[in-house]
Amino acid sequence: MLTIDYANCLSSRVGSHGLEPDRLAEGGALCQAATAMTKKLAQTRGTGWERWRELARGAMRDEHVSAIRPIAEDVRSRASNLVVLGIGGSALGNIALQSALNPATWNLLSDDERGGPRLFVLDNVDPVNIGAVLDFCKAHGGLERTVFNVVSKSGETAETAAQFMLARTMLKDAMGDSYGRNIVAVTDPAKGTMRTICDNEGFVTLPVPDGVGGRFSVLSPVGLFSAAACGIDIDALLDGANAMDERCSDEALSKNPAALLATLLVELGQRKGKTNHVMMPYANSLYLMADWFRQLWAESLGKQHDTSGDEVFAGFTPIKALGTTDQHSQVQLYREGPNDKVLGLVEVGSFGDTDLTVPSGLGVENLSYLEGQTIGTLLNAEKRATEYALVESQRPNFTIHVPQVDAAHIGEFIMLWQIATSYAGLMLGIDAYDQPAVELGKRATFGLMGRSGFEEFRGKVDEGLAETGYKL
Ligand code: PA5
Repeated sequence: MLTIDYANCLSSRVGSHGLEPDRLAEGGALCQAATAMTKKLAQTRGTGWERWRELARGAMRDEHVSAIRPIAEDVRSRASNLVVLGIGGSALGNIALQSALNPATWNLLSDDERGGPRLFVLDNVDPVNIGAVLDFCKAHGGLERTVFNVVSKSGETAETAAQFMLARTMLKDAMGDSYGRNIVAVTDPAKGTMRTICDNEGFVTLPVPDGVGGRFSVLSPVGLFSAAACGIDIDALLDGANAMDERCSDEALSKNPAALLATLLVELGQRKGKTNHVMMPYANSLYLMADWFRQLWAESLGKQHDTSGDEVFAGFTPIKALGTTDQHSQVQLYREGPNDKVLGLVEVGSFGDTDLTVPSGLGVENLSYLEGQTIGTLLNAEKRATEYALVESQRPNFTIHVPQVDAAHIGEFIMLWQIATSYAGLMLGIDAYDQPAVELGKRATFGLMGRSGFEEFRGKVDEGLAETGYKL
């Protein structure tokens, strides 16, 4: 199971930049607060926007897995390419799962070697990127062997709608009336624009359940379908998530990893000015997990108002970094720049039979220390050395130890951060499940693109951004 070493967040290691250990002591205010929050979350789990907490267990899990399995098997048997059309919470989890659990070279392998489709996740409306992916699919397998997995809870998201409209027309041109066969939609089971399209066109659909928001949806069909189609063990993923959920239901702060992480990060943020939260995995496979975390932490906690309507400007800036790569790019800043960060290092215990041994025989004296050592040993020694160097500069940091990167541990990791986010939301007194600030930009885009009912925004944008002389 995952473990968290947080000694380097304490004043005993990093002086006044750390939390005083007695603040975390049993019976103290932080422990009592954590217990009260755990009780509260036990009451709200499975209701409202906390339905995501039920995704890894019981009836919801069974229903999703049994719906996903035959569709994923069908796609595995007949598709060379699977293209996820979605953005934000409807794409980042898919990307994170694929990059964590399948080899970086997945799309370069042959159909036989993969045993399932290549995976592309668009996550934007950059025409160069979309064009390149679509051209590639046409040339490698053809559109008849390309399945589009459109993921949109609302169906209203302009980026996803545009991606979908492009794909649908191309498929229709290539496949005629049978084009719908190559579309699998993940959307609201009962309402919304995408639901209506699916009902009208007869697409195969999987649900984004009620009360599961985008950034908490990776363990629903949103993330699970493309993962299963690419051969990822979704049962192990959900087992890991469920095991972490059980650990995070413990009322004792010292035994509850999510409550502990949230307590450390919120306390260090609010009391010690550590408002930038870096996630730095020492594994390329986990780098895009840090990207997924970035959305979860930013969009959930960055709020102008608390739940009583008072202005609070809450939130922390999540930053992603990669060890050891960013030791040669960012660590200078992390050690000697503003002491306003907490670093979350992620360490992999074993790379198993993927690890490599540095051979002997170069015959250069000052490089001979590397001979016979594994690359994984070097990576983890660099991590430990960086941890030591950070402590020397009194920079608070913690380590999440992942015994090995497999589906069960990734499930634990995802659930850990999702639950930590719900604790952090309670500590900050904000609603972790809405995103009011994203809406204005969406409405202004509609106005600029000529959507009826949003005309006023075109004028507002033009007025707000009127030409001035401040241009070179
Ligand atoms: O986390 C979120 O809520 C957002 O990132 C959404 O997932 C994103 O805007 C896409 O929304 P939808 O699935 O409705 O197309």
